[in-house]
This record gives sequence, C-alpha cells and structure tokens, in this order.
Amino acid sequence: MITIGMAYYPEQWPRELWEEDAARMEALGVKVVRFAEFAWSRLEPRDGQFDFGWLDEAIEIFARHGMKIILGTPTNCGPLWLYKNHPETLQWGRDGKPTDTGIRGHRCIVSPVFRVYAGRIVEKMAERYAGRPEIYAWQIDNELENSHCTCPACRQAFRDWLRERYGTVEALNAAWGNAVWSGEVSDWSEIDPLLAPDCMPDWHNPAFMLDFERFGASRTTDYVKFQRDIIKRFDPSAVVTTNACFPAHMPDFHQEFAGLDVAAYDNYPPIRPPEDPEELYSNGFALDFVRGFKRKNYWILEQLAGPGGCWSPFCPTTEPGQLAGYALQAVAHGADLLAFFRWRSALSGAEMMGHGLLDHDNRENRRFYEIRDLVRRLGDIPDLDRTAVHSDVAILYSADQEFALKDQRQSGNFAYWTQLRLFQEACAGLGINTDVIHETESLDGYKVVVVPTHHIIEPTLAARLEDFASRGGTVVLTNRSGVKDKTGNCVFGEPLPTVFRKLCGCVVEEYDPIGKFKQRVSATKGESYAVTGWCDLVKPEGAEVWARYEGRFYSGTAAVTRNGFGAGKAYYVGTVGEKAMYRTLMTEIFREQSVPMLTTLPRGVEVTTRTGEGGTYRFFFNNRGTGCHFPLGGETVSLRPFEAAIRTGEGKWV
Ligand code: GAL
Ligand code: ZN
Repeated sequence: MITIGMAYYPEQWPRELWEEDAARMEALGVKVVRFAEFAWSRLEPRDGQFDFGWLDEAIEIFARHGMKIILGTPTNCGPLWLYKNHPETLQWGRDGKPTDTGIRGHRCIVSPVFRVYAGRIVEKMAERYAGRPEIYAWQIDNELENSHCTCPACRQAFRDWLRERYGTVEALNAAWGNAVWSGEVSDWSEIDPLLAPDCMPDWHNPAFMLDFERFGASRTTDYVKFQRDIIKRFDPSAVVTTNACFPAHMPDFHQEFAGLDVAAYDNYPPIRPPEDPEELYSNGFALDFVRGFKRKNYWILEQLAGPGGCWSPFCPTTEPGQLAGYALQAVAHGADLLAFFRWRSALSGAEMMGHGLLDHDNRENRRFYEIRDLVRRLGDIPDLDRTAVHSDVAILYSADQEFALKDQRQSGNFAYWTQLRLFQEACAGLGINTDVIHETESLDGYKVVVVPTHHIIEPTLAARLEDFASRGGTVVLTNRSGVKDKTGNCVFGEPLPTVFRKLCGCVVEEYDPIGKFKQRVSATKGESYAVTGWCDLVKPEGAEVWARYEGRFYSGTAAVTRNGFGAGKAYYVGTVGEKAMYRTLMTEIFREQSVPMLTTLPRGVEVTTRTGEGGTYRFFFNNRGTGCHFPLGGETVSLRPFEAAIRTGEGKWV
C-alpha cells in the first residue's frame, strides 16, 4: 500500500485543534505525520532547557488516531539565543559576511560550536523517541544544500581538506595550474573561497571552484552522517533520511544518501505548463533522478497540496485533477510514500500564503476532495508498493559534472540538466522507463546507456562503455564530453571527445558555441531539426553520419554520428536539438535494440511502468492542461487534463 503522509506543525496551532486535526487526517487515510523539523525554539526555549511535553502530547494524539510519526530534527533553524550567545554558529555568505538571523537555514553546519548544540538537541530527541513504536522514520534537517559558507571555521576546514588531499602547496599549485594570474599559493592560509558580490564565479579558477564544491558536498554529507550516527546510536534499526530538493548549490546526493536508509524528495512540480512547447517542464526527470540515489523506490516527504506563495508573489492555483495527477506521477516513478505539504496554510510567518491542503478558513475544499479521492483510489491498489520501476535505459549523472558545468558555463542555451532531461523526456514520451544513475554504477542489465555531457572524465568510464557496447549495448554520448580531467583541467594533445574517440568513431574538428542562436540539422532520413546552444563540427573516423548541419560555413558537416562497436553501437550527438530530434533518435535506437515502445502517445503524455510481485501497473499521465485521445492497441484512450490512468498487466484500468 502506498503510505499517505502529511506535514503538520503542532507548534503552530492551538492545542485544542490537534485532536480535531488528527481525527480529520485519520478519516482522510493519513498514516504518517511529519513533525518538529523547524521547532527548535519550542524544544529548547533557553540554552539547555528542554521542553518535550508538547511533542509527547502531539505524538500521543496522532498515534491514537492511527498515525506514525516522521520526526524531523529541528536543526535547520537555530533558536535566536544560540546565534546571540554564539555568533560563530552563523553561516557566512560568499561575500565573507555573516547572514542575518530571523529567517531559516542561517546556521553553519560545519561550525564546531553549532555541531555541539545541534548534536545535543538531536541526542535529546533520539534518547527520548528513538525505537518507540510511534516513530516511523527520522528526517534530518530540511532541504540541505551544498555548504558554501565562508565563516572562519569553514575557511579553515576547506584548507585542511585541501591539505589532506594535496599534501603540499606545491602539489596544490601544480594540480590547479596556479601559475595562471599569479595564483600560486605559498602558504595554506592564502586560500580563501570568498567571492565579492560583483565577482562572477567564472572568474575563479575552475579547478579551485570544483574542489570548493566537492568540499561543500563533503561537509553536507558529513553533517548528515553526524546526525544519523546519533540517531542510530539509540536505535540502530531507525529509518533515517533527509528531504532533498534541487537548490542553487546542489549537494552530491549520491554521497549524501549513501549513508541513509531511503531516498526522499520534496516534489513541487511547476503549476503552470509553459506556453512554449519546447520548454522542458515535466518533473519526471527529477523523480527518476531521486530514485537513482539508492537505486530503489523512494519517498516524497513534501508533495504539492496547494499553490505556493511562501515567497510572494503568489502562484496560480492548480487545475482540477492537477494535484492528484502530480502525486500519481511521483508514484509512477517509484514513490512508496506520499506526504503532502502541508495540512493547513499557516496563519503567520513568511509562508502564510503557501497553501496547504486546507486554507485558513479550515473548510474542506476542492483540493481536499481531490486528494481524498486519490487516497481512496490508491487504497484500492494495495499491491503497488510491491512493485518497482525497472528500466532498459540508464542516463548517467554525477555531481562533478553538475559542479563543473554550473561553475563554468559552456554557452547560452546549454545546461547539464537540460541535456539530461531532453533524453529522459524523449523516453517517457515513448513509454520507456529510464533510470538516472551515478556514472560509477554498474551498467549491467541495460540496453541503452545515455551519457550526456560527460565533461570531467571518470577514469574507468570509457573502458566500461566500450565493454558495454562491444557486448551489444547502445551508448549515446554528447558534446562537451571528455574535455577535462578529474582535477578540472583540460586534456592536452587529444582531439575531443578524447577518451571516447575510439568508441564514437569520430573526432570534433572544431566547435561553434552558438549560445542562444539557432542552427539547423537534417537527419539522413530527411527530417530537419532546429538546434541551439552548441555545434560540434564532427569528423567521422569510421562512424556513419546520422545528421548534418544546414547553414553557416560548416553546412554539410556531421552533427550526429553512429558508430558500430563490437556487437553494439555508439552515437555521438554534437549539438543540442529541439525535442523532436531526441524522439526520432531514441525511437531509432529502441528499434535497433528491440525495446518495445508506445509510439502513439500525444505530446505531454508520459508512460511509466512499475512491475514486481505486486503485479504490473502502467501509468499514463497526461502532463498538460488539455484533454487528449490516442489509440492504444485496438482501443482509444482518453485522458482528462493532468489525469493519470493506471492499467494493470491484465489490461484493466484501475
Ligand atoms: C519546501 C520547504 C518547506 C516549505 C515549502 C513551501 O521547500 O521544505 O518547509 O517551505 O517548501 O512550498
Ligand atoms: Zn561556516
């Protein structure tokens, strides 16, 4: 059974409401409730004075109504007394100045003093609640980012981390290529990750930036492990996770979740479908990505339950069916737990206009009925959680690529996430599941492996891909691959795509980073596609041409190639095309690989399949604001706006 959950903040509501809210949630079918993630000032109102009475009472009431508790550690928001008494617990910006208190997330997760206080409150909670039957799981902090703090403790920790990695400043200078711009360091104390407000990140040495990001990721991972270890000390079988989101500074999720029991994500898909059909919009990629953190089903700890408005201006409201459709999309991609955010909109605070399931008036409303119907519907499919998403296609990702390509943008209209998403969307529109996995993971069991913009070379990858292709698999590589070594410096003396040259059977003679400008390519079968962002001028060395440029001085030059490699193939996509190009390309690849596709799905309809002991469930999700009809086998399927229809392996709609 898919577990239904709800975010609830007892500390924000009068006690008289708790019982009533618990009873209403019980009637709705809520089985887990998420408490306490921001409640530090209520749990420890003064330094060392703890008050768990209210939380005990809330847990008792909700447990009595059949709910278990996901307990959040409250460390995202330190209480104000902590910052006043210990200003060294504050986070500092890249400008080298402490942030203001009064909002949230302003703590430094590295600060040894903060660790003492955070460790103490987590320990107090774990001591009291870990192992109790009411506790379902633990959520560490909230929506952790890569730490970019520049407080004195972080600056020192960064230097220590570098010293550990490089040993001597000479080795560091050589690795980073610090001869450029007199960047050579003569003493560790000269290293500072500061960034003046008028300074562009791209003005820093990319190798330095890459290490700063890796360091930040290691701090976030260490912080998660620090809290996990405290909880596990009191209950080794506790289920511990944290709620991921995709912030400006992305952590290394694979590293972060390695020590956690289940991957979890806060799912807020965009409410308004874009007017431009070329704009990437589906949240499907995010869901596949999260499933890849642990290569198994995941949880949604915050699922959209009403239009946001936490940070004004307000968002448009959701269309009928949209909330349920998005929730089912999350299930379609492997969610086993759906906790909605939040039960009721807050009456006060910055998020007062971020809509919960109930509005301030506390009445049942259109959204409430929609979610109630969804919960009933999921209740009628009790075996769903005994199924999982199995995929023929893997898309490879790593935080290194994310870091390197964000800190040194390659050209306009070209971004790492877009590269990944274009392939994922093409697959979902053909009814094909995709896994998004870390680039070091095993490729066994896949038929197609897509490696978009493998920029920083993972040393074992070229050989693993050659082996995969030689045994009959299809590899797809794209532009800006094989450019840099692990340190973040450019590879010398080899044409791009360097280590992938043999596999792809081609070289990049020259490139044209066209940014926002458009160019066209024509595929050898006759279709023509708009491309943008980047154009590699590809010279085949044994590969055949799949598409050529039309226009500019390199008209007729190869843009996309296909190379036979052993029993398999390797495609090289030297440019960034419109969506239709990826659909055609992937259709051809799936035909070659005999992967069955659904070719009649209209634009915006995504199909994902869960299979396992519990049966087979195929989710047809109409990810758009208009209804549609399409043929499927001998029948016609009709979907309302945002409807997710579910079909069993026996062909029954449920
Ligand atoms: C999430 C956050 C929640 C709440 C929500 C509002 O990112 O974790 O605490 O702020 O956004 O939409
Ligand atoms: Zn810091």
